[in-house]
Amino acid sequence: MILFALLIAVACGCGKGEDKKEPVNDPKLLLGFSQIGAESAWRIGNTRDIEEQAENYRVSLMLENANQKQENQIAAIRRFIAYKVDVIAFSPIVEDGWDNVLLEAQKAGIPVILVDRDVSTEQEGLTACVIGADFYREGVMAAEYLLRKADALGLETLHIVEITGTENSTPMRQRQAGFMDTIAGDERMTILESIDGDFLKSRGAECMRSLLESYGDEIDVVYSHNDEMTLGAIPEIEKAGLIPGKDMIIISIDGGQKAIDVLKEGKINCVVECTPKLGKELMETALKLKAGEAVEPVIHPTEQVFSDEQDPNGIAPRGY
Ligand code: AHR
Repeated sequence: MILFALLIAVACGCGKGEDKKEPVNDPKLLLGFSQIGAESAWRIGNTRDIEEQAENYRVSLMLENANQKQENQIAAIRRFIAYKVDVIAFSPIVEDGWDNVLLEAQKAGIPVILVDRDVSTEQEGLTACVIGADFYREGVMAAEYLLRKADALGLETLHIVEITGTENSTPMRQRQAGFMDTIAGDERMTILESIDGDFLKSRGAECMRSLLESYGDEIDVVYSHNDEMTLGAIPEIEKAGLIPGKDMIIISIDGGQKAIDVLKEGKINCVVECTPKLGKELMETALKLKAGEAVEPVIHPTEQVFSDEQDPNGIAPRGY
């Protein structure tokens, strides 16, 4: 009885503290989705988009929130297998440690879609595809903005601090690699320190305090891997008596509404877009897999850069 009640709760996508969703009538497919958590406006927007698109496509969604823990994601995937869903999707918090559970899904004959982030497995072919941003390209776009800014201001030395996302996650690895590869060889650029901010606003503030203690006004550039950490860092820069966007060049990634508003105030110089709106691609891909059709192995959305090089008032409302 307890198990039955639990399965009904999971099938409705309603966990503790979440809104109860009406079950989809006559669903076309049962999709189990393990979300990382709710660490950022981006993540909350991503969950909302997936829920909305599931309804649009008449997909019954079993949504589980892992509260930032890999073991919770592994347990959720095992429940989806036991429940015999048609397709499993998940956003892996980190890249490593998925081989066993993915082998279990493969043995059960359930295709797996990676949403937002990628995995690194010993065996190939354990997942059908990945739907998410080109994080390497985002790092390149952030660095290209910085090179243009340095040229425009005629700067000869730039001391950079990097606040990174969750260690060993795909966006952390790729946003760092794309940025570093692009500035490599430019003698104006020096990295003072890279520090792990875990994609959290509170950690962004802590990291910035620690960086200011170590380097003070020597810092010329803050490259932050997401808006949440940037929004945590900015008040710390102000408390230190410095002006973000003027005394320091601030570069962020995501493009949520709050960061765009701060860009309009001039306290952020550049925001590279990372769209959380992956739900439509997810539903279409899951339906194709259920029908036994081939799918693209990698699906990247198109993304843009918002910066002080353009009129920020022309930026349309972001929706997340
Ligand atoms: O994986 C995407 C990243 O995860 C987003 O940049 C960040 O805001 C989120 O938490």
